[in-house]
This record gives sequence, C-alpha cells and structure tokens, in this order.
Amino acid sequence: MEKKIFSGVQPTGNLHLGNYLGAIKNFVQLNNSKENKCVFCVVDLHAITVNQDPKELRNNIRETVATFLASGIDPNKSIIFNQSQVSAHSEAAWILGCTARMGWLNRMTQFKEKAGKDKEKASIGLYSYPVLMAADILLYDATHVPVGDDQKQHLELCRDIAQKFNNDFKVENFLIAPEPLIQKEFSRIMSLKDGSKKMSKSEISDQSRINLRDEKDQIVNKIKKAKTDPLPMPSEIKDLDNRPEARNLLGIYSSLTEASLEKSINEFSGKNFSDFKNTLTQVLVDKISPLAVEIKKLLNDKNYIDKILSDGAQKADEIASKKIKKIHEIIGF
Ligand code: AMP
Ligand code: TRP
Repeated sequence: MEKKIFSGVQPTGNLHLGNYLGAIKNFVQLNNSKENKCVFCVVDLHAITVNQDPKELRNNIRETVATFLASGIDPNKSIIFNQSQVSAHSEAAWILGCTARMGWLNRMTQFKEKAGKDKEKASIGLYSYPVLMAADILLYDATHVPVGDDQKQHLELCRDIAQKFNNDFKVENFLIAPEPLIQKEFSRIMSLKDGSKKMSKSEISDQSRINLRDEKDQIVNKIKKAKTDPLPMPSEIKDLDNRPEARNLLGIYSSLTEASLEKSINEFSGKNFSDFKNTLTQVLVDKISPLAVEIKKLLNDKNYIDKILSDGAQKADEIASKKIKKIHEIIGF
C-alpha cells in the first residue's frame, strides 16, 4: 500500500544524534522505499515560537536541508521545503485552531516543559504549536508520520483535531488521522551526561550530546567522558535495569549498527566498559563524521540548497493549496 509520509524538523541549529537516530535515519529509509510519497518540511514557523536571530535562522534552515541531503534524502524522490513558503500552513493552523479545544492543548507536556515556570510569558505560538503541527500533517493527507517518541502526544492531538473537524462538518474521512511511525527500540536517545534526560539541542552542556557537525576528536572526547556506572558490561537485558546510561550507550550502538539490543549485549558481555566505549567511538566516527564533512560541503553551495527549497515549496504548494481550497468550501468561506 502506498504510504504518504510527512515529517518536520525545526531549524534551530545543532542537529544531534537524537534527531538523527530518532527521526532522520527513518526518513532516509522511507525515502528509499518505492511505494512511499514523502514530504520533509523544515518547520521555520515552529522555530519562531521562541526567539530567533533572523540571520541565524536563515543559516539554520539551510543547515537542516544540508543535513537531510547528507543523510541520504533524495530531493528528486521526496519533497523538501520550508514551511513559511507555503502559506496554507499558517492558514490551516488558524482554521484548525478553531476546531481544537483549550482543554486538549492544556494537556500538552511539551508546552509545560518549554514554557517553564512563567507560563504568562510564553508566546501564544508556543501554546498553539501542536495545532500548526496538525495543519502541516493534515494538509498533505499524510498516512504516516515518522517522529521521535517525544512527539507522540502531538500526533494524538492531530488525530483528535481531524476527527472533530470531520464530525463537526459531516465530512467523513476528509481529514486523514495519521499513524505515528516511532522506532520501536531506540525511540529516545538520552543525554550523555544523564541517562534520565533526553538528548537535546537546548541543553546547555555540549558534552551532553553528539552534534552531527562534531569533529572526530570531539566525538572521541565526548564518548570518553560519557557517564557510566561502576558495574561490568551486562550479559543480559535484565542487567540494564536501573542503568540508564549503560542502556543508552548500548542503544546508540545497536541503532547505529542495526543490531538488536540483545545482540549488542552478547557482543560485549564479559568485556570492559572501556573496550565497548572504544568500539562505540569507532562506529560513531565512521557513521557521523562523513555527515559533518558532507554538510559543510553542501553549505558552501547556498544556491543549490535554495533551489531545492524553492522547487520543493512549489511542489508542496500544489498539494496544500488544493486541500485548503476544499477546507474553505467545507467551512462556508
Ligand atoms: P526537533 O529538532 O525538536 O524538531 O526534532 C526533530 C525530530 O527529532 C523529531 O521527530 C523528534 O522527535 C526527534 N528527536 C529529537 N530529540 C530526540 C531524542 N533525544 N531522541 C530521539 N528522537 C529525538
Ligand atoms: N514538532 C516537531 C518537533 O519538534 C516538528 C514538527 C512540526 C513535525 N510539524 C511536524 C513533525 C509535522 C512531524 C510532522 O520535533
């Protein structure tokens, strides 16, 4: 069956291993399958829900595209564009904001985390962020949305919005409730300094993450210093209970080598932690360093990236403007 895939990544700079293993690696596989139609969006409208420096934002949009390309997404097979260039996204977000309920949004944990203690000072955009995300997905009739584990709740909201809109206007199956595609085993990559916290670009310490643009010696240094515990390498999955750092590092290794957690545990059982760290570093350097080189190279040709974005926006606009036109008719505009 043909799958329609949509996903988005914020151009907030510093894409890291969590973004790669949790989302982008999956995008590449989906892009490579013949039956899929994929749309990958650089969600710049989402990025401005918190303050952005305009010059940096412009660079980060290009850098996100360069990361997609370097990872193996083919712009001839998938649509790559930035959200702000297709006006239907903002428009649909307003309309669907009239379908979504305050009570639903009040439950969103990402808003609570990002707004912090002083909610009064958070932007309205940050609050209604998941409605814009629903608009992104529903405009393309996406059937499947590859994301990291942290976006699960937003996808449930998207499904609720689709259903309520269809019910309210008596248009059965007009908006398609999408299925999340979340990696089964390693859907959440954790900080290298604290296995209970998600690896994140907003974390102050750079030691907590592997950035996709890190140089080889930075990777070596970060894995060397990555937090572990004094216990030996596990010999079965059960041994990882209450050992979040060891689990995370083995998860990263498994995900990079496409092995099951069980297989990786068997590979290192009885060995020293330092042996494991050496092998992990080698795999990271082999897989991630070439990305950094390629991203840098691509960023030297801004015209090429801008051309991909403008071609992509044109293709995306063809799909999205048809859908928004139908939405207008349904609503009575
Ligand atoms: P963002 O950079 O927040 O736009 O996230 C882009 C994609 O990366 C989303 O699908 C996230 O769910 C995913 N992602 C971000 N951080 C992590 C992480 N630590 N582990 C797994 N996936 C992640
Ligand atoms: N909210 C997502 C994140 O922070 C990014 C995003 C925006 C997205 N629109 C989307 C993801 C549509 C999937 C589908 O990671």
